[in-house]
Amino acid sequence: MARRRDIEGEDIPKAKISKESLKEALVIFKYLGPYKKTFIGGLVFIALSAGSTMTFPYLLKALIDSAHGTATGPLAYTPGAIALMLIGVLAVQMVFSFMRIYLFTFVGEHAVADMREDIYKKLIMMPMSFFAQRRVGELSSRITADVGQIQDAITGLLAEFLRGVFTLVIGIVAILWISPRMTAVMLSVVPLVIVIALVFGRFIRKISKKVQDQLAESNTVVQETLQGISNVKAFSNEWYELGRYHNNISAVVNTAISNGRYRGLFVSFMLFSVFGAIVLVVWYGVGLMQAGNLSFGDLTAFVLYTSFVGVTMAGFAEIFSQLQKTVGATQRVRELLREDTEDVAVEDVKLENEYRLEGNVSMRHVAFSYPSRKEVNVIKDLTLEAKSGQQIAVVGPSGAGKSTIVSLLLRFYEPDKGLILFDGRPASTIPLSQLRKQIALVPQDILLFGGSIFENIAYGKPDATEEEVMNAARQANAHDFISGFPEGYKTMVGERGVKLSGGQRQRIAIARAILKNPVILLLDEATSSLDSESESLVQEALTNLMKNRTSFVIAHRLSTIRSADQILVLEDGRIKEAGTHQDLMANEDGLYRNLNKLQLFEN
Ligand SMILES: Nc1ncnc2c1ncn2[C@@H]1O[C@H](COP(=O)(O)OP(=O)(O)O)[C@@H](O)[C@H]1O
Ligand SMILES: [Mg+2]
Repeated sequence: MARRRDIEGEDIPKAKISKESLKEALVIFKYLGPYKKTFIGGLVFIALSAGSTMTFPYLLKALIDSAHGTATGPLAYTPGAIALMLIGVLAVQMVFSFMRIYLFTFVGEHAVADMREDIYKKLIMMPMSFFAQRRVGELSSRITADVGQIQDAITGLLAEFLRGVFTLVIGIVAILWISPRMTAVMLSVVPLVIVIALVFGRFIRKISKKVQDQLAESNTVVQETLQGISNVKAFSNEWYELGRYHNNISAVVNTAISNGRYRGLFVSFMLFSVFGAIVLVVWYGVGLMQAGNLSFGDLTAFVLYTSFVGVTMAGFAEIFSQLQKTVGATQRVRELLREDTEDVAVEDVKLENEYRLEGNVSMRHVAFSYPSRKEVNVIKDLTLEAKSGQQIAVVGPSGAGKSTIVSLLLRFYEPDKGLILFDGRPASTIPLSQLRKQIALVPQDILLFGGSIFENIAYGKPDATEEEVMNAARQANAHDFISGFPEGYKTMVGERGVKLSGGQRQRIAIARAILKNPVILLLDEATSSLDSESESLVQEALTNLMKNRTSFVIAHRLSTIRSADQILVLEDGRIKEAGTHQDLMANEDGLYRNLNKLQLFEN
């Protein structure tokens, strides 16, 4: 029976088997292509191994019959000779089995590694809109669960299937040859038992799943209440939760008990019918033996072949259900492989020179809504003009669309209307990689990867030297605190290492941006969650970073943007006011002036 590997306990849905879905499943063979010879070698060894297994009952029969000297035909040898032959067959069989497992594993692992890399490449190059509509867990299960299922199909399922076909054909021919009449008896009983067992088994699996689901539901109660334990206690709802849990658990018990009744029936019925079938066949066989139409060896071989055939028939049901899962997995993988990716180019010096930017940015009547929420117009009509080297501040209430402007400049999304120009060129005419290479983003919540501080800074320029990384850290006011760690730049961050404070993380992100040396800099509330001491350090680092670059600064604290060349007050997807600090303060009823007043009290 096919080995099942449970990948993170994930349930792989089955798919209908149809001509189309099977055709889709052929994607597997594309990945087998490079390993064709090894794969065919594996197939040959399966045939050999199945074939040699099937000679076993025959040789055993000859061995048994040699005791009475009743052995006839080509194997009328002494018991010792036949036993040696049997051992020989077993030894050869060892080699065949080893080879088939080894070759299939080799092919399976390679093909699947190729497939995983292809899928990962697809995933990582997908546009942002793709990720907005899917859950991360769902995507990563493409690589783990679905590909794992396909791998099992290559290494296990196919072998199982071929082996099954060989076994069935050889087995049925063998029993027919031993005794056609007994075969008729056997074939009228065994498949019937198998069919009943399958139907019953499926029903039992269904009700066990119900128990599992109910148990999972009761676990949700436990998790929720333990996570929100302070809520439970503050509302003194302990008894209420206890009641909720009791109801859930009672449901589990009821279902499980009725489940137990069916399982009991199933097991006792199966024991009765399997052994009943054996008794029936053997009884009939003994009758034939008494009439002198069958030897004891024949009977033994017949029973052995019959059990091979029976087990194989039952195994086919499992193979079919696995095939359905595999087809489902290939369909989802195919869907993903068919999606259009962003155009992420490899290094190209010629392109780099052709598209080198000076840093003039303009947005003209841009309108935009997120693909996942088409009905909300996040940006309504936005026009702005930033000259090379200027500092543009964007302020406004949360939800105004400030971060959306950043995403549009990075071309995570395309505007629905209007134009974004870099040095007068429409953004869409600049290759994505060339554009993004010249822009650096310091976001509000910074993600550090689980590596060393050095690696995290060098993310801005993977081939940076130690000298460059340290220089960037110095300019970002990060060198001192990094050197303060016992392991310095080799300090691991994230789960396995030191937890950094918000301000420290921010300065590492700034060092990363400095190292990238961008023409255009995007700061999205880069200082909003800092205490005042680290804020002044970070602010100083940012001032260093903004020199000689076009920068867009989204700021929560207005004190940090007074010297900006332009301040844009964004509200509800539109620019409400624009100008320098002096311009905007001159307007008595202006939004900016009022916001400033409010913040004076805040600080
Ligand atoms: N990925 C997204 N998908 C759908 N709606 C979004 C997405 N990101 C932001 N929004 C919505 O767009 C509006 C503007 O968001 P954002 O630009 O992040 O505001 P700000 O940065 O000014 O606080 C908000 O109403 C927000 O809910
Ligand atoms: Mg924002």
